[in-house]
Amino acid sequence: MTRDLAFDLGTANTRVFARGRGIVLEEPTVVALDTRSHEVLAIGEEAWRLVGRTPSYVVAVRPLREGAITDFHITERMIRLLLRQVGVTRINRPRVLLGVPSAITSVERRAVKEAVRRAGASSAHLIEQSMAAAIGAGLDVHEPVASMVVDVGGGTTETAVISLGGVVASRSVRCGGLDIDAAIQTYVRHEHDLAISERTAEAVKLAIGAATPGGAERKAEVQGRDVSTGEPRTVILAPEEVRDAMADMVDTILATVVGCLSEAPAELAQDIIYEGVHLLGGGSLLAGLAERIATETDVVVHKVANPMECVVEGTGLCLDSFDRLRPIFAAADS
Ligand SMILES: Nc1ncnc2c1ncn2[C@@H]1O[C@H](COP(=O)(O)OP(=O)(O)OP(=O)(O)O)[C@@H](O)[C@H]1O
Ligand SMILES: [Mg+2]
Repeated sequence: MTRDLAFDLGTANTRVFARGRGIVLEEPTVVALDTRSHEVLAIGEEAWRLVGRTPSYVVAVRPLREGAITDFHITERMIRLLLRQVGVTRINRPRVLLGVPSAITSVERRAVKEAVRRAGASSAHLIEQSMAAAIGAGLDVHEPVASMVVDVGGGTTETAVISLGGVVASRSVRCGGLDIDAAIQTYVRHEHDLAISERTAEAVKLAIGAATPGGAERKAEVQGRDVSTGEPRTVILAPEEVRDAMADMVDTILATVVGCLSEAPAELAQDIIYEGVHLLGGGSLLAGLAERIATETDVVVHKVANPMECVVEGTGLCLDSFDRLRPIFAAADS
């Protein structure tokens, strides 16, 4: 039986939801690419494993690094593999509903839809990610009362004010968890002459990274290669070093939230001040970030119960009322 599918093609993670079943796939948005044939050999965790075991012409690529399609060809192949993994065949072609960031251009929107169709869907429809997030967080988006969602993802921070089934103000910045990892990498290279991998930098962030001072004052031991000699070496990082390394990224995220609030029409801003901001996305799990947002905006911050799954679950819920919700999809489709 063909089931409609909901996709969250995130910069860091891809999630697929099948109508009536829930989340059926959750993988890092990484492909193992054969740079000689341009073939996509594997996706997700399998891709990381493959790259470690194969010759140097097989490399790991993040096709959506900037939150939109950066390489059409690779993305199409990745979606084709994803669809196959969730049971889509030539004769079993689902409708696919896909959450997209509000910031992507109409050219990029068409490219995403085209990639999904070419990869084997019978049709492709788009929904604003912030709208999907609000639905996934259980907010009533059709009410005349405004709500605000803040999604700190891997490659983007997207904030939106929603009222009466539409996005009335939004602001986004191409900065998220992956950029914080990159900032840690750069810091360690400059200050300790040590080259560390993206995944090591992420591990440091998860272990001792924080947006606020205080908390656990544990240090982190990291392994990398000496920049001049290429020899393996270990350094110990203090929490305040890591905090300094990522301070600019955290400030960028905070400025985006403040900016969106200031853009909201005054009467809607009142609703938000009264009701609070809903925070989601993997990047929002950074220690102290919710507290910093609350302090900077003077608004209560609610952490949603399912921060990483919220977008795909909201998109998935929309599959149940596909026809009724067409106007919402159409708004994102144009
Ligand atoms: N506990 C945590 N603390 C800090 N960061 C975290 C934590 N857990 C996950 N992350 C970060 O969350 C990011 C992934 O979040 P998410 O899956 O929401 O992104 P995405 O949807 O793929 O990206 P985008 O929405 O920007 O396209 C990664 O950068 C990861 O390091
Ligand atoms: Mg996301």
